[in-house]
Amino acid sequence: MTNKITYLNDGEFCIIKKDHVEFFSEDGTKINKKVLELSTEEEKYDKGDFKHFMAKEIEEQPITLKNGIKEYIDTSNNDINIHNFPWKINEISSVTLIGCGTAYHSCLMAKYWFEELTSLDVNIDVASEFRYRKNRFKKDTLYLFVSQSGETADTYAALDLCIKNNMKTCAVVNVIESSIARDSEFVLPIHCGTEIGVASTKAFLGQILILYILALKLGSLKKDLEKKTYIEKIKDLKELPKLVEKTLSLDNKIQAVSSTFNEAKGSMFLGRGFSFPIALEGALKLKELSYIHAEGYPAGEMKHGPLALIEEGMPVVVLAPRDDYYKKTISNMQEVIARGAKVLLITNKSKDEIVSENIWETIEVESTNEDLLPFLLTIPLQKLAYYSALKKGFDIDKPRNLAKSVTVE
Ligand code: G6P
Repeated sequence: MTNKITYLNDGEFCIIKKDHVEFFSEDGTKINKKVLELSTEEEKYDKGDFKHFMAKEIEEQPITLKNGIKEYIDTSNNDINIHNFPWKINEISSVTLIGCGTAYHSCLMAKYWFEELTSLDVNIDVASEFRYRKNRFKKDTLYLFVSQSGETADTYAALDLCIKNNMKTCAVVNVIESSIARDSEFVLPIHCGTEIGVASTKAFLGQILILYILALKLGSLKKDLEKKTYIEKIKDLKELPKLVEKTLSLDNKIQAVSSTFNEAKGSMFLGRGFSFPIALEGALKLKELSYIHAEGYPAGEMKHGPLALIEEGMPVVVLAPRDDYYKKTISNMQEVIARGAKVLLITNKSKDEIVSENIWETIEVESTNEDLLPFLLTIPLQKLAYYSALKKGFDIDKPRNLAKSVTVE
């Protein structure tokens, strides 16, 4: 309806008439406001040949990654450029990442990378918890606010709290005109374009890409990462869009297994290490879209309770890429198989055979360095949720009871 936008600060108001608008300050004085124009690209965003925005957004993920790489990676020198980063590296000794929903899963994913690649202390929090806790604000902490929309009320309130305590604030957002982006001291845009589907897909990959790049850069600046390793990781990153593209073609098997999830009373998604946040995200996608009970759990925690839920025929997704946790996760997988679970194993291609019996189905994503496997493991889980909702005939882009941007508490 319009491509013009302006922002009202607290207390300001406006009167909109048929053909013009007037702005006022809190005391009723007329004021002038800057009116910005949205880019035409955003206005044009439509479904194209896809049935749903979500399907389109899943397929757009290689472009999201290419955009992020183009923005932050100097591909000829294998270096990372974060222009105008406002702080000196010795001013930062810890990071706190805050978000809601899928964005919170990006924070959890980043925690593993920050711990692996840097010597920084890392904390993460769900925004609705952070804002009411008695936080210990520390001058040398960088507070990162992760949000697709940049308008989530709880995430904004957490940012506001940090601003009031004079903390270092950085937004990792998609919508750069948003409140969170405007009020943060520094912004790292994720450049994935408009996301319409309520269940976030390409914004998740965009967020984790930027957080990974930031972890690499801080690790290198802090001299926690050897130059050689840093360069190798950047080189691998450049190949990522192609690998995601290949993984996107794994459609048929996922369509077939989605029926079993639809018929089940509930399901579980298990992973360890880098795969644990992805298990949570996979379970969230299935819940949001198919209204199937899905629990994401650290595979190693099964014995401490959830194993009691496993019964004959229950579908369980096990994320076991060939990383340092592989053997442990496979052993957790065998425990659920022994109790009758139907296991969908998602791993990456390897010359080594999978030594386990009675796996119901296996999906193999492409292989790359361990840090980057979470990007690939995410794809089949997004598709599983999509196909399962499609078969049920649910409203994929607008699941019941949910909103794209939650601007109330
Ligand atoms: C809503 C959406 C989720 C999203 C969350 C956080 O619940 O349905 O898909 O992950 O808000 O949104 P944000 O815009 O802050 O990333």
